[in-house]
Amino acid sequence: MYPFWEVPFFTSGLVIALIATFHILPCHLATGAFWFTVYVERKAYKENRPELLEFVKKYSLLILIFCFVIGSLSGVGIWYAATVASPRGISSLIHNYVWGWATEWVFFIIEIASIYVYYYTLGKIDAKSHLMMGWLYAWAAWISMIIITGILAFMLSSGKWVETGGFFDGFFNETYWPQLFTRTAFMFGIAGVYAAIIASTIKNRQVRRELITTAGLWGVVGMVAGVLFAGWYLYKLPIHAKELWLDETLPYLGHLINIAGIAYGVVLMWFVICCLIKPRMVGPVSGILVLLVLFMGIGAGEGFREGIRRPFIIDQYMYGNQIVARDIPAKHIKAEIPIFNKDGFLNHLYFRPDKVDPNNQIDLLHAGDVIVHNQCGNCHALDRFGKMRPLPDLLANFSPESPEDIEGLLESLGDYPYMPPFAGNELDMKAASEYLFSITRR
Ligand code: HEC
Repeated sequence: MYPFWEVPFFTSGLVIALIATFHILPCHLATGAFWFTVYVERKAYKENRPELLEFVKKYSLLILIFCFVIGSLSGVGIWYAATVASPRGISSLIHNYVWGWATEWVFFIIEIASIYVYYYTLGKIDAKSHLMMGWLYAWAAWISMIIITGILAFMLSSGKWVETGGFFDGFFNETYWPQLFTRTAFMFGIAGVYAAIIASTIKNRQVRRELITTAGLWGVVGMVAGVLFAGWYLYKLPIHAKELWLDETLPYLGHLINIAGIAYGVVLMWFVICCLIKPRMVGPVSGILVLLVLFMGIGAGEGFREGIRRPFIIDQYMYGNQIVARDIPAKHIKAEIPIFNKDGFLNHLYFRPDKVDPNNQIDLLHAGDVIVHNQCGNCHALDRFGKMRPLPDLLANFSPESPEDIEGLLESLGDYPYMPPFAGNELDMKAASEYLFSITRR
């Protein structure tokens, strides 16, 4: 195990959630926008209407800056945050999908090169070559989505990979296609929102109106198709995930999906009312409002996707606290709970107290601190004012009278369908209980 990354109040999970939610806007915009841009540019040439090119220039500048400066920075941010929050999780993904990422990055480089060429050569090279550059970008961006979706979907449903260890068995798992289609439809929705906002800054009134309406149509089609595909996606979720959500084992999942659904409805209404019926209503104010709603909806949707994966960070294979959950014979990987139960969890940590005297309270508290951070800290805040499922509060609900009461809880932790079992020998258990008792809000 690697050292634990403690983030006061928020926990590492919320840090990743915040960066990731933000990242989704630029990354889906980056994949969706150019289909729209190329469509408008083609129209400009075909109908000989150079005034449409003003939009093409403005919109591609937005993509260049928003996606390839802010989006790239937040993408790197996810890598950094995820690497320190779940080094073993990232390591497992890299061990399986390094060639997937390598392929994706080839397409990234094509994307980055082509958008610069596209933006800076508009009106300077012949129309056909310029359009080619646009198509190149649009396809490269979408192909990068085809690849990354496989890795994301693998974390939610690892498919036959757990038996075969095969690259494509994990990649084309049961939620892959629905997720790819949902994201593809949704990317047109996001592209539509930004296109309408940019279109509202065009000076020529008639062009402005026409482009806002077209963006609205793209948005409506994307969002409606998105709902259908999202239904398919939810239907294809692993049984365990459906149980956590539909049986209300974790009621917050239902709330999250409701928030996402409402936000989705609001954005759809915005397209219909502001873009199609009254294009004059699209402007900075309604634009910012709809972006906020979009952000909230995405946050809730992603929170849902993360939540239904409990107790795993990689479905079936690795628990949220990065302990390997089962044997993967094809990869010569062994389940770790039995190993940790036998040898002691502390003995498998690189950063641990030198020695623990079972009769010394200070030693026990110190060791318990390390164990609990490693085994619970990915999903629970441990400090008193922590925001994410703070353990001091959750434990207090059980009104423990002594550390022994907490031992009983730890022994049955694996019976909760959303938590991994406690891993460790008697001494680990004793130390963890002492520590947990000491932080319980009494
Ligand atoms: C994979 C994530 C994960 C890990 C790791 C984890 N928990 Fe939890 N735990 C949850 C979730 C999810 C809940 C449900 C609370 C909620 O959000 O409503 C929960 C709830 C609890 C509760 C309240 C029980 C209830 O009624 O739901 C306790 C107590 C608890 N956890 C203790 C622990 C301890 C102690 C550890 C470490 C040994 C731990 N958890 C590790 C995810 C986790």
